[in-house]
Amino acid sequence: MHKPYVYITRKLPEETLSSLREVAEIGMWPFEEEAVPRHVLFQEAKKANGLLTMLSDKIDDELMAQSPSLKVIANLAVGYDNIDIDAAKKKGIAVCNTPDVLTDSTADLTFSLILATARRIVESALYVKEGKWNSWGPLLLAGADVHHKTIGIVGMGRIGEAVARRAKGFDMNILYHNRNRKLHTESGLGATYKEFHDLLKESDFVVCLAPLTAETRGMFNREAFQFMKKSAIFINAGRGASVDEKALIEALQNKTIVGAGLDVYVEEPIDPQHPLLSMSQVVALPHIGSASVETRMKMAELAARNIAKKLSGEEPETQVL
Ligand code: DGY
Repeated sequence: MHKPYVYITRKLPEETLSSLREVAEIGMWPFEEEAVPRHVLFQEAKKANGLLTMLSDKIDDELMAQSPSLKVIANLAVGYDNIDIDAAKKKGIAVCNTPDVLTDSTADLTFSLILATARRIVESALYVKEGKWNSWGPLLLAGADVHHKTIGIVGMGRIGEAVARRAKGFDMNILYHNRNRKLHTESGLGATYKEFHDLLKESDFVVCLAPLTAETRGMFNREAFQFMKKSAIFINAGRGASVDEKALIEALQNKTIVGAGLDVYVEEPIDPQHPLLSMSQVVALPHIGSASVETRMKMAELAARNIAKKLSGEEPETQVL
């Protein structure tokens, strides 16, 4: 009996695929840092029973409509806003993500963005490497403290909670805003629930970790930045489209806020000419929230296992629908 066919849209380390190879024939786009062209993805999806996709692949109704054998899509990310969930539901296609295994790594990266932006780490490192350091100065490259400040976390899911745990170690006052209140987080971490605008008004660091949904799209708009303190630093490790980037640029240019640490953007990869990239008060990273070798290996293994299980008639470990 021939095995089901699974297409993987980016080159993954062979050792992460052993569970999948046992039950499926695998086709894989051969490049690590180049996205599969849409026409290739369409050709492959047409004959595939399973797809292992990246957050940069648009998996829409059009693609699913021409993929009659597709049973499961496993996204190599916790977020799955790149997949049309309603279309998958209608067609009975299972969608899986990779939660939990990436929580701590993504929280580490989020916290390093807070530190790097507040303490001007990237600017300072460049200053040394570019030979600009002539003399020690009392306020040379002085930034803002992180310890004992107020952090406002928007999106208190697993990653938000892990960021809050790190903030507690820095003696920070922890505020959060979420779709629903998390009473165990309030008692366990001493976090205080705030309405969105109150959180913006009171936080020194406003951290976006919310998933991208109809409600969160563009929620950090001009009005939101105007609510923030003049000394506020905005951090986004959630999804770029939660932010109106024009409003963010304006807020930085007009000194409505002091700085921004960004791992995600409306368009990825971001255009090198994008105005945000020429601002010294912006730390910009290439969507590397979960990018430690250990975590990316676990994510790939989990995604592969999810497909293997679904195609063998078992329950996937982390199915979102
Ligand atoms: C995800 O997995 O959705 C995050 O963006 C981690 O980088």
